[in-house]
Amino acid sequence: MSNGDVDSLFASHPTWMELDAHALHHNLAQIRKRINPEVKVIASVKANGYGHGIMPVCKILQEAGVDMLTTGSFYDAKALRNANINIPIIMLGGSLPSGMLELIEANLIPTIYNMEAANAANAAADSLHSDKKIPLFVKVDCGMGRLGVSLNNAVAFIERVSKLKNIWIQGLYTHLSFKNESGMEFAEKRLSLFYNLVSELAKLGYEIPITQALASSAITVRWKDQCSAICPGHILFGLPSVNSSLGEIKEFLPVCKNIKTRVIHIADHENGPAIGTGGYHINRSFSRTCVVPFGLNDGNRSSLNGKKPVVLFKGARLAVLGVSLEHLTLEIPDDTEINIGDIITIIGQSGDECIEMSEYSSWFNTSELETMLTLSSRMPIVVINKDEAV
Ligand SMILES: Cc1ncc(COP(=O)(O)O)c(C=O)c1O
Repeated sequence: MSNGDVDSLFASHPTWMELDAHALHHNLAQIRKRINPEVKVIASVKANGYGHGIMPVCKILQEAGVDMLTTGSFYDAKALRNANINIPIIMLGGSLPSGMLELIEANLIPTIYNMEAANAANAAADSLHSDKKIPLFVKVDCGMGRLGVSLNNAVAFIERVSKLKNIWIQGLYTHLSFKNESGMEFAEKRLSLFYNLVSELAKLGYEIPITQALASSAITVRWKDQCSAICPGHILFGLPSVNSSLGEIKEFLPVCKNIKTRVIHIADHENGPAIGTGGYHINRSFSRTCVVPFGLNDGNRSSLNGKKPVVLFKGARLAVLGVSLEHLTLEIPDDTEINIGDIITIIGQSGDECIEMSEYSSWFNTSELETMLTLSSRMPIVVINKDEAV
């Protein structure tokens, strides 16, 4: 879809997100530049594709040739299968042992990290009478303290799982994310223990084709890897996962290119009640206001600690007067010509001005990722720059 086509959409609720297919291809290419050609890319599309919309994101990623996808959301994964996304999908977690049958039947690869799940997967595979063993991934907890079999128990666990008749271990992975120096130091030490585990298993004769430990933080700081796959999420979408003191991600482009809305009402308050007598906007300095449908229900928020959010109109910053349940009210400077239907940019470029996701997020003391998760599920997503991408 071209940007011109987008402009005529959504008249009944004109607030939408523009997802940049070119940026996603570009970011994947940047990631591939940092790894050896034989290393597989498992794209992390957790949480509705980091809030960018699971369906459009995965269609683009499949087209761009990622090797595998991974998510913890069964509903997202099932929707992908129903939409003919047929590359392998690893399930990161999120299921009870009794959910294994449903995962396997949906052609998803479960991750296991306890014997209850391993036995359940084995029994589920048996009940399907498949002549092939069902592939599984094993997750090792190297110190993050979330999901995973603990490093100390990993060899014994793999020995036991390998004896089960109907399943085989296709992959072994861990997750070591970090944001700052001390986190990085910790992750580096723990990573070397994961590499030791991989070597020990190889010596014991366990051949696991896919091993993976690095994700966005490690890729950003350009660690050298010894595994056969990487699993980036944040940087694929142009979102930072480490503090800027550790590394910048300037080569990566924001995949959420714009969030836009349109003016649905313009009001002239010149003869109205004096400012300060109440109503929705008591700090107005101009007589005109306009309203756009980007309220709390669309994922917008009220600003904190006296911060002053703005939006963009034809390259100029307009002050936000207030956000209510379903609307956002803006101040119109006296010399601004504005009409119903005109486009207001919430996030993105307008003329020479830009509101980046980081600036928008700072008004609400939140991260770019959390902003994405809040906004995207509340509005339609349009893919732009498709032709440029392929
Ligand atoms: C197991 C695992 N691998 C990879 C990732 C991707 O991490 P990032 O978004 O930091 O690249 C995640 C995300 O939480 C994860 O849980």
